[in-house]
Amino acid sequence: MGLLLLLTYTLLSSWRMVDAQRSFTIRNITLTIEPSTDVTRDTNVTLRCKAIISSSGPEALSRKYAIYKDSYLIYNKTSNTSQDLLYPLPEVRVSNIGEYKCKITIKDKEMTSEAEKLTVKGLSKPLLTFNKTVVSEQEVVTATCTAPGETGHLYFFFYKDSKEIQNYQVNSNQSEATFLFSSVGMHKIHCTYAVLVKTESFKSGESNSVSVSVKELSIKPVLEIYPQSKIYEGEKLNILCIIRELQPSSESIHLYLSQGTHLLSTGSIKVNHSMVALAKDPGDFECSLEIGNVIKVVTEKVSVTELFSAPTLTMSPAEVFQKEYMTLTCKSERFATERLNKEELTYTLEQATTSMTSSNTGVFPIKALQYDFNYTCVARAKGIMKRSETLTVRPKVSVSTPKMSVVGRAVLGQPFRIICQSDTGSLPINYTLLRDYSPLSTTSVKQPNQQAIFTVTINKPDEISRYMCEAKNSNKEGSLSKRLNAAVIVPLSHPTLTVIPKLSEISEGDDLYLICGINGTPPVTFKWYRVGNEQPLLTNTTNTNSTYYQIHKLSKEHSGIYYCEAVNHANNLVRSEKVTIDVQLALWKKALIAGFCLLLVLVLVVVCVLYFRSKRVRVPRAAVSVWSERPPEAVHDELSSVVSSEPDVEYTEVVHPQPVDPAKVPLRKGTDTVYSELKNSPHGAADPHDYGSVEYTALNGEQPEINHYHPNINSYQDLPVPVD
Ligand SMILES: *[C@@H]1O[C@H](CO)[C@@H](O)[C@H](O)[C@H]1NC(C)=O
Ligand SMILES: *[C@@H]1O[C@H](CO)[C@@H](O)[C@H](O)[C@H]1NC(C)=O
Ligand SMILES: *[C@@H]1O[C@H](CO)[C@@H](O)[C@H](O)[C@H]1NC(C)=O
Ligand SMILES: *[C@@H]1O[C@H](CO)[C@@H](O)[C@H](O)[C@H]1NC(C)=O
Ligand SMILES: *[C@@H]1O[C@H](CO)[C@@H](O)[C@H](O)[C@H]1NC(C)=O
Ligand SMILES: *[C@@H]1O[C@H](CO)[C@@H](O)[C@H](O)[C@H]1NC(C)=O
Ligand SMILES: *[C@@H]1O[C@H](CO)[C@@H](O)[C@H](O)[C@H]1NC(C)=O
Ligand SMILES: *[C@@H]1O[C@H](CO)[C@@H](O)[C@H](O)[C@H]1NC(C)=O
Ligand SMILES: *[C@@H]1O[C@H](CO)[C@@H](O)[C@H](O)[C@H]1NC(C)=O
Ligand SMILES: *[C@@H]1O[C@H](CO)[C@@H](O)[C@H](O)[C@H]1NC(C)=O
Ligand SMILES: *[C@@H]1O[C@H](CO)[C@@H](O)[C@H](O)[C@H]1NC(C)=O
Repeated sequence: MGLLLLLTYTLLSSWRMVDAQRSFTIRNITLTIEPSTDVTRDTNVTLRCKAIISSSGPEALSRKYAIYKDSYLIYNKTSNTSQDLLYPLPEVRVSNIGEYKCKITIKDKEMTSEAEKLTVKGLSKPLLTFNKTVVSEQEVVTATCTAPGETGHLYFFFYKDSKEIQNYQVNSNQSEATFLFSSVGMHKIHCTYAVLVKTESFKSGESNSVSVSVKELSIKPVLEIYPQSKIYEGEKLNILCIIRELQPSSESIHLYLSQGTHLLSTGSIKVNHSMVALAKDPGDFECSLEIGNVIKVVTEKVSVTELFSAPTLTMSPAEVFQKEYMTLTCKSERFATERLNKEELTYTLEQATTSMTSSNTGVFPIKALQYDFNYTCVARAKGIMKRSETLTVRPKVSVSTPKMSVVGRAVLGQPFRIICQSDTGSLPINYTLLRDYSPLSTTSVKQPNQQAIFTVTINKPDEISRYMCEAKNSNKEGSLSKRLNAAVIVPLSHPTLTVIPKLSEISEGDDLYLICGINGTPPVTFKWYRVGNEQPLLTNTTNTNSTYYQIHKLSKEHSGIYYCEAVNHANNLVRSEKVTIDVQLALWKKALIAGFCLLLVLVLVVVCVLYFRSKRVRVPRAAVSVWSERPPEAVHDELSSVVSSEPDVEYTEVVHPQPVDPAKVPLRKGTDTVYSELKNSPHGAADPHDYGSVEYTALNGEQPEINHYHPNINSYQDLPVPVD
């Protein structure tokens, strides 16, 4: 037994091994649709899946087939025959439309066929049925729409009188809809459906049309209003809202009585409402009945005749100033003479919270308050009260005395602006500019930020006080300002530059005054200039009409051309004539130079005399110079005795044609030093830090360098100048 089992096992496993080792190849697989890929509804369609396999053994290999529709697996089967796989699609529908594929799997190999598309034409006609075709208003009916024999995803549409009203998506071949008809009469209903395939939908034709007849409910509301003829304000109105032909019903019944949007009363069978007729209310009464889902409405228009019209409140005059008297009139324009005597009508003015005045005529003389106030009046007759619209009285404020002022500055001969302004007063205000009480021009100020500005020109300073202005905002006399009082700026004229001392007498060491004078209104800004300098020498603003520029201790350098300028608030710049200042040498200096020259001539004469004498006595010796032979002390002594106690080396060297030290020699330097020393001598000792003195010292400092290179030229060039 065990041996037999072993043998069977061996046999089986060897067959399996053979099967496992068999080599094969899937050569091709195709899917075909029979009888055609394009069929009509109800055709019996077969999908044929044919695979071509090459294998080494005689037996067919076990194979797995799978059929896909639009990539979804719809069928699979394992087969061990080489026959084609057939998959039937009996009586195809639109829902069978799609792309079909077949896949074969043998061991670990698989192959998928190309897709074939099946198209099915034709949809069945939908069928519509109602569970009741004659209904009353509030009844609900059920409609059923069927798509005979159709499968797949379906969409059902219901139409009432050719208008789509409902739709449903279902997965079956029928759909139900319920209807409630709100309007009485015949209604035609039909339906359609659509089959959804992938993203496409295939729409069916229309179903049979079903006529549903909707009958009106016999129950209805009735509205009765008493009195029925002409109704006047204040009369009593009886309004009845009831149900006629009431039939027993399971539904609950509600009655609503309303006037416009205002609900007056409610009830279940009867509503009895009474009210006073008022003209202002909208006269549409409405009685509505609610039974189940049905609402039935009946309306009636009631016109109520006014007993008297709402009063209007008017004031006279149309404008009133604070605390002035005015008249307020309260009047109803129309009243029903057939029902009302004029005497029955009374008017009340609601003036303030406390006091009220009553009158039959409706005329109220009152005094205006000082602030805005709202007035209303009330007319009363036969228990009816009518209020006027609010009248806001805005008492005007009288204009205050205006003030005049000048914008900027008033300049003689130039146009300037004058503002005329009142601090208080209701707009508009008319401002009039007056000159000697005669009006020149008028400006009407209408906005709070507006100003009355006038432009005038005056030619004499006192002319400004001839101007006045008047402010007026009522028919009464205007308010007159004071005379305009403002400083008038006279433009500058006649500039003069006066020099002290006299021009011909200006010499070194003097104090010079350049006085600049002007005609015009101070403050004046004066500026002194020297021609050649861009910057003014001095700028001075004073409240006087003249001021001066002073130069202490004149020296030669101050010679030049001077002038002055002046400007004031009139902004006209004036310039004086130019004055030439020529600073002359001081008198004592001239004398000193003259003395010098005399001395020099004397020395030369003495030298010449001595020379000629010696020539006559001695034999001439060419090699020895007269200059070197003669002791210098002689000249030196003579000079030093003339100048001062201080020995002066430079003057000694003047007579040397060949100076030993050129730096010490120059005559110019010598001359300058003399000036400097003279300045510092008792004559000029009053101011040791004098301007001129410093200048000469500075010259001293730079002169030696120049002289160093041209000692000879300097010594002869400069010498004759002071001598002459
Ligand atoms: C399979 O067969 C079909 C029809 O016989 C042919 O059109 C197709 O080219 C074949 N495919 C392959 C891969 O041989
Ligand atoms: C389709 O097949 C059904 C049976 O499955 C048969 O009754 C019907 O007659 C066939 N229709 C056509 C058109 O052959
Ligand atoms: C495919 O085959 C398996 C068994 O192998 C089965 O359970 C399944 O339902 C099949 N699917 C279809 C769509 O036939
Ligand atoms: C092959 O087919 C035979 C009969 O058609 C069946 O008895 C057998 O079980 C099948 N084998 C397999 C592996 O499905
Ligand atoms: C018709 O259908 C509606 C709603 O489904 C139902 O209330 C009514 O009783 C039905 N009428 C009849 C006669 O079946
Ligand atoms: C509608 O479909 C159901 C199954 O879903 C079927 O039993 C019925 O016969 C179909 N009706 C029609 C009219 O095709
Ligand atoms: C309605 O009520 C008034 C009193 O308010 C009464 O005179 C009148 O008769 C009533 N009308 C009805 C129909 O009940
Ligand atoms: C007057 O009535 C108006 C509205 O009509 C209101 O805006 C205003 O403030 C009232 N003025 C006074 C002073 O009561
Ligand atoms: C102000 O002047 C205008 C014309 O400029 C005139 O119509 C108006 O009546 C004047 N108003 C007053 C209060 O004088
Ligand atoms: C300067 O003002 C004085 C008086 O303040 C006046 O007498 C004099 O004439 C004025 N001089 C000039 C140049 O205007
Ligand atoms: C400007 O002038 C006034 C009046 O002439 C004089 O007192 C004042 O010193 C002057 N100022 C300068 C800076 O010269």
